[in-house]
Amino acid sequence: MEGKNQAGAGQECRAIVLVGAQWGDEGKGKVIDILAEKMDYVVRYQGGNNAGHTVVIGDRKYVLHLIPSGILHDGKICVIGHGVVIDPKALIDEIELLRSQGIDCSERLKISDKAHVIFPYHKRIDELRESRRVKGRIGTTKKGIGPCYADKVARVGIRIGDLYDKEYFSARLEDNVEEKNSMVKNFERSEGFCSSEILEEYLNYAEYLKGFVTDTTLLLNDALKNGKAVLFEGAQGTFLDVDYGTYPYVTSSSSTAGGACTGAGVGPSRIDRVIGVVKAYTTRVGEGPFPTEFDPGLMEIIRKKGGEFGATTGRARRCGWFDSVLVKNSVDINGIDQVVVTKIDVLDELEKIKICVAYRYNGKTYTSIPGDPRFLDNCVPVYEEYPGWMRDTSGITSHEDLPAEAVRYLNRIRELIGTEIMLVSVGKSRKQTLIYK
Ligand code: GDP
Ligand code: IMO
Ligand code: MG
Repeated sequence: MEGKNQAGAGQECRAIVLVGAQWGDEGKGKVIDILAEKMDYVVRYQGGNNAGHTVVIGDRKYVLHLIPSGILHDGKICVIGHGVVIDPKALIDEIELLRSQGIDCSERLKISDKAHVIFPYHKRIDELRESRRVKGRIGTTKKGIGPCYADKVARVGIRIGDLYDKEYFSARLEDNVEEKNSMVKNFERSEGFCSSEILEEYLNYAEYLKGFVTDTTLLLNDALKNGKAVLFEGAQGTFLDVDYGTYPYVTSSSSTAGGACTGAGVGPSRIDRVIGVVKAYTTRVGEGPFPTEFDPGLMEIIRKKGGEFGATTGRARRCGWFDSVLVKNSVDINGIDQVVVTKIDVLDELEKIKICVAYRYNGKTYTSIPGDPRFLDNCVPVYEEYPGWMRDTSGITSHEDLPAEAVRYLNRIRELIGTEIMLVSVGKSRKQTLIYK
């Protein structure tokens, strides 16, 4: 089809967007690492170092926060698009950590000159907002993500490209520091921030990053025109999206598929396919509604078996049953063509497994989520219950060897969300991944 990047019948997809279809931590890092093998470019388009994407290769574990998970494959170009917010110190630390592990980013990492920069005052404001509130606390990662995006939208932000014009950068920074200090000093007895100190520190970061910075929009559009395969790596998950998620308990970026277009500068007509990653159950970190959350007993079991602790903050993740209402909504909002179901093995020991198929609220049954802010807090999930498989699936290498109960569970999920299952993951490593038919 013209306008699509060779994505006609029987042809390979050239531009794929991969998104988390729940509240993040679905296993996107593992799936990106697998898909990256066939791609030329892997692109982050939103979020920042609030993300934590884990890739396990052999006995080595890598946790990527800002750098696309494709970096672990030789020769892949990894792009941080302008929709990402960058803490330069965190980025440099990540580049250096990878270098110490034998992975050289110097020729393969490209950073947009239009990405916004996280400054120390963003992190402080993030912390202050969280500590001031008891009720209504979001449970952020305290990485300064929200305040940095707020500055971007308020048109007072500072972008990576600005760091290379000292006079311009210095004037904008001074203005920002003055404004932020009035806020910080109001909340706590502190000296506030010193703009000349920040200026010096950030000019050093800019010098380090100079060779990586470029016009990534041009780079990606040229790549697509030249038939290169590009994978857009979503961070967070659909229900953390600032527009679509469980507002205000969300992150501050567009973590749904549309964010790939605005955050990487690639038009919707160029995207061939959207893949959603879902866990075989549900987790969320931080505050906010969670209708299918387990009771403490089961929570403990699944958290332990699934290693459900944040890859960025180490916080214990909240765990619950698979919520097909949420994921079905996610399929619509992202235009998901196929899903990858991860962590099936974590459910191996359960005698009974539930799937939420609807909600009850004020005497009515719902299969979608209305805008009522109290809905998700007060609705009661309607469950279907299935027998567990009570067998170890972590060593299975073909979908034909999956226990019948696991197939039944997966097929019911497929039916409820109305989407093809592409892959099923039964463990952390690359080889613990099955093509599902
Ligand atoms: P992401 O943010 O979506 O990339 O996910 P995280 O890396 O934050 O969390 C997913 C966790 O689950 C990581 O520790 C992965 O190594 C692990 N993981 C991924 N797939 C599987 C799986 O199929 N089974 C098990 N047991 N662990 C998995
Ligand atoms: P990955 O990419 C899970 C959550 C935080 C908090 C909310 C807002 O690894 O899936 P923020 O610091 O972004 O302002 O926090 O969003 N959050 C995530 N939860 N996985 C993530 O990323 C997350 N990134 C942010 O816990 O509830
Ligand atoms: Mg994560």
